[in-house]
Amino acid sequence: MDRNVPVVDILAADHIHRRKSDLMRYEYCHEAEITSISPLIDSVKLYRIRLLDPAVHSTFSFVPGQFVMLEVPGIGEAPFSISSSPSRRGDLELCIRSVGTLTSFLARCERGLRVGISGPFGTSYPLERMKGSNMLFIAGGLGTVPLRSALLAVLENRSRYARVDFLCGAKNPAFLLFADEYESWRNTDIGVQCIVDEPDEGWSGQVGMITSLVDQFLSSGISLSDTWYAIVCGPPVMFKAVCSTLLAAGLPMHHMFVSLERRMHCGKGKCCRCNVGSTYTCLDGPVFDFWSVVNLKEAI
Ligand SMILES: Cc1cc2nc3c(=O)[nH]c(=O)nc-3n(C[C@H](O)[C@H](O)[C@H](O)COP(=O)(O)OP(=O)(O)OC[C@H]3O[C@@H](n4cnc5c(N)ncnc54)[C@H](O)[C@@H]3O)c2cc1C
Ligand code: FES
Repeated sequence: MDRNVPVVDILAADHIHRRKSDLMRYEYCHEAEITSISPLIDSVKLYRIRLLDPAVHSTFSFVPGQFVMLEVPGIGEAPFSISSSPSRRGDLELCIRSVGTLTSFLARCERGLRVGISGPFGTSYPLERMKGSNMLFIAGGLGTVPLRSALLAVLENRSRYARVDFLCGAKNPAFLLFADEYESWRNTDIGVQCIVDEPDEGWSGQVGMITSLVDQFLSSGISLSDTWYAIVCGPPVMFKAVCSTLLAAGLPMHHMFVSLERRMHCGKGKCCRCNVGSTYTCLDGPVFDFWSVVNLKEAI
């Protein structure tokens, strides 16, 4: 392990300060309306949500990687990553898979439903620090949701970043999220490559695991160094394998960012559902650099 890599102290003073300001935001649940609902893939829909107070709508700001708590009174509340560009401010896009009480209620609802939004919460991808560098986005399954927000922010400020590549993997072609946007991303010089585990008849692309796509990307003459940053999102088993490959290829651990989406209940450090030791993923995450994750016992 590289001993020269700076250790990120997740309980440093600025984190404690952020924790306090995060908790204060819980006092404000903004009234919002679902303005449109689009089916994306099996059991996953894209919800466009407008914050209704004009002052809140124009001042609401977030950074890619952060999440909001969405509440339907009497039904439930849960955390969801923001998938839209931060420049959209009070018009948020959430991509939600129907799995339980709240999400299956949302899957049945229609546009016009009033909901409560609080946040934004949590740590984010440090896009400011990444300016001038090459960017590698690697997504598995629903991991594309927060990555899309970061990618859109990079696209809107394209000249501030060097080379940008987006690699994504899904179970089968029907599970590729936002596939209808890939062509427009390619047209703005982003390298977009996809791979699926189970091809269907119409699939002419790559077949295999996301790790094969990463191996292929690296064998195309790319030399990873501290001029690169990687943002990886997907199930822990996927990001563990991907980050180990990137590390072996020369990318420093503190240049890789992952999201730890532990099951959350309260989202504010009270219920102890999401903690790993003394680290609460609702307050200290969900975005961590890989160095911090490796040092979190039992995180992956
Ligand atoms: C930081 C963060 C960001 C998230 N972002 C998103 C997002 O962008 N889109 C999204 O769809 N989800 C996201 N989730 C997951 C989402 O919050 C949960 O799926 C949500 O709690 C489900 O609420 P529910 O009331 O519908 O399910 P519940 O009624 O709480 O659960 C019902 C059943 O579903 C199962 N279940 C609950 N959650 C999951 C899950 N994630 N995977 C598999 N089974 C589950 C439970 O085990 C239970 O059996 C995120 C979670 C975190 C912590
Ligand atoms: S979700 Fe309750 S402590 Fe983090």
